[in-house]
Amino acid sequence: MSQILLAGGAGFIGSHTAVELLDTGYEVIIADNLMNSSAKSITRIEQITGNQLKFYQLDIRDTEKLEALFQENDISTVIHFAGLKAVGESIGKPVMYYRNNIDTTLSLLECMNKYNVKNIIFSSSATVYGEENPVPYNEEMKKGSCTNPYGWTKAMMEQILEDTAKSDKSMSVIILRYFNPIGAHETGLIGEDPQGIPNNLMPCAAQTAIGIRDHLTIFGNDYDTPDGTCLRDYIHVTDLAKGHVKAVEYAQKNKGVEIFNLGTGNPYSVTEIVETFEKVNGVTVNHVYGPRRDGDLPNCYANADKAMKMLGWKTEKTLEDMCRDLWKWQQMNPNGYKD
Ligand code: NAD
Ligand code: UFG
Repeated sequence: MSQILLAGGAGFIGSHTAVELLDTGYEVIIADNLMNSSAKSITRIEQITGNQLKFYQLDIRDTEKLEALFQENDISTVIHFAGLKAVGESIGKPVMYYRNNIDTTLSLLECMNKYNVKNIIFSSSATVYGEENPVPYNEEMKKGSCTNPYGWTKAMMEQILEDTAKSDKSMSVIILRYFNPIGAHETGLIGEDPQGIPNNLMPCAAQTAIGIRDHLTIFGNDYDTPDGTCLRDYIHVTDLAKGHVKAVEYAQKNKGVEIFNLGTGNPYSVTEIVETFEKVNGVTVNHVYGPRRDGDLPNCYANADKAMKMLGWKTEKTLEDMCRDLWKWQQMNPNGYKD
């Protein structure tokens, strides 16, 4: 089967996608500069699947090295995960975010053009729906205004990809808008390994349960939601990874641009998910309620019908599975890949 390049594939979502692609029979090549990941994830992917993959440690913006990779291989499809993703950090360092995220995209598109690679799948985010659209979000809605530079990089990269596909009708561009990916592989061998203090809810909850952090602060309990805390569409990272396999199959058979939400369509509140994590794992997550975090929307969840209809994809894992698998990963790797 054809070779799939995973740019940024050593990270959280890329590593899980590599497992699902290898299990389906694809050849996988990962290119990553490891700025937010570890080479250990590569050996763990091989351990889970019993398959080998090719790993290039390089910056996607380094076009000379990227070109060499395209020359040495026969890539049919690129999945573009490479990017910086911390919303708060992007507000303090916007130029770094625009430089890295936009440049990786341009380098990939230039190389694809030169080496006649026609299919690209892009990791976008529900954040592009912005503040203006009502939930549940569907792909027909216009993009909204983002609350931070990270979100704007995603909106801009979507535009760049759409314009590129318009100029070359033989291309297939698939934009995947992720909701809130959490959990870990059921083996506990790969998972999310945040550097420093986690920005996202569930890594912070798991580190609190294991004693690395003293407590979790829940940002705001005065929202107009059933229990006052924000609602999100949490999706198991393995379900998300399987969505990429479906997207590869689709991209290889169709041309043009398609956008798909990858979410479950079920919103859960912050309090609900923290309590579920405690219950299924028999642990305590010390938590306090604090003020709202700037930029958080009260409610964000998907209408996931399009991916079901056109990709034949639907989520299989429950909120309990997400919490159980995250805890397994946290217990087996208390310091992430650093041990
Ligand atoms: P991650 O940080 O674990 O993975 C991204 C990978 O890209 C890392 O391994 C990093 O080292 C690599 N990378 C970054 N810049 C690079 C460069 N210039 N050259 C080479 N490698 C580079 O993040 P993730 O959670 O796996 O997210 C993957 C993608 O999905 C990102 O684009 C992210 O913005 C997007 N996304 C993530 C979420 C989420 O909640 N995790 C939600 C929506 C969208
Ligand atoms: N939260 C807390 N305490 C924390 C961390 C988060 O209460 O310590 C709350 C947030 O206020 C929010 C919910 O938990 O209500 C989820 O927050 P995350 O930071 O885990 O996720 P977000 O929904 O803010 O952002 C995620 C991704 C972004 C993406 C966005 C929309 O991290 O990349 O979804 O797709 F842009």
